Amino acid sequence: MSVRFRVTWTLLSVFFVECLVFGLAMLPGALLWEFFALRTYPFVLVRIVVLSMAFVPAYGLFAFSLMVLSALSTRWLGWRTPVNVDMPIKALEWPLLCWVRYMVSVHVVRLFAGSVFRATPLWTFYLRLNGARLGRGVYVNSLAINDHNLLEFGDRVVIGDGVHLSGHTVEHGVVKTAAVRLGDHVTIGLGTVVGIGVQAGARCQVGALSLVPKFSRLKADATYVGAPVRELPPDEARPLDSHPVIG
Ligand SMILES: CC(C)(COP(=O)(O)OP(=O)(O)OC[C@H]1O[C@@H](n2cnc3c(N)ncnc32)[C@H](O)[C@@H]1OP(=O)(O)O)[C@@H](O)C(=O)NCCC(=O)NCCS
Repeated sequence: MSVRFRVTWTLLSVFFVECLVFGLAMLPGALLWEFFALRTYPFVLVRIVVLSMAFVPAYGLFAFSLMVLSALSTRWLGWRTPVNVDMPIKALEWPLLCWVRYMVSVHVVRLFAGSVFRATPLWTFYLRLNGARLGRGVYVNSLAINDHNLLEFGDRVVIGDGVHLSGHTVEHGVVKTAAVRLGDHVTIGLGTVVGIGVQAGARCQVGALSLVPKFSRLKADATYVGAPVRELPPDEARPLDSHPVIG
């Protein structure tokens, strides 16, 4: 099949699916709004205030529905990041285009629901539904997390604000993919970049504004800082229980 056909099919299918997902996601919020719009109000001003206030729950309903429907649609359609592959951008082969569709769907959710729900259990729920294998009590406070089906996090993992972590990178015009695995209780500090294929052992801490090069193996119970990361000697890194724990 020609490149033109593949690209056209990809664009059309993404457009159609996103229109459908977006439209269905609007439905609960629109119904809620319609419910308030059809009431009779003593004054026009009251009607305006009620309809204005209905915007917040209506948007919340829309954003939540978008997360669920988008994740279900990528699951049903098999839009996923292929694992351990090198995909030249120039060739525009099917695996690359499938990955593009997955990225588009994630981007739309990030845009309309991510800023509302990130760092909450609902965002963790979305990531899981969209293919990530996450343990219990995982908090992701960053919207720069991609290729969800290539992410494996243990229990109580915390991803700080502004962390870049995904299962793909682009080098010399080639998209390369590999899974990222973080053990239980791993924390990735604010603004850190985690490369593809990284594995971090349980309770490993990565400092803020650090760079974890691709395919790094980080030891359990260790603390890493810097760009690229270096391990802090155990006596330099304070043990996790060095501060009183409240609650
Ligand atoms: C890495 C980290 C856990 C280390 O904390 P700690 O064990 O208490 O260590 P200290 O703060 O005593 O620092 C030890 C040394 O590492 C250095 N260091 C600490 N964090 C660093 C970082 N992000 N980058 C570079 N160096 C760092 C300190 O300057 C210090 O060096 P020195 O001994 O030469 O003075 C902490 O500094 C950090 O970056 N936490 C990020 C938390 C975060 O972003 N969480 C996300 C959810 S909010």
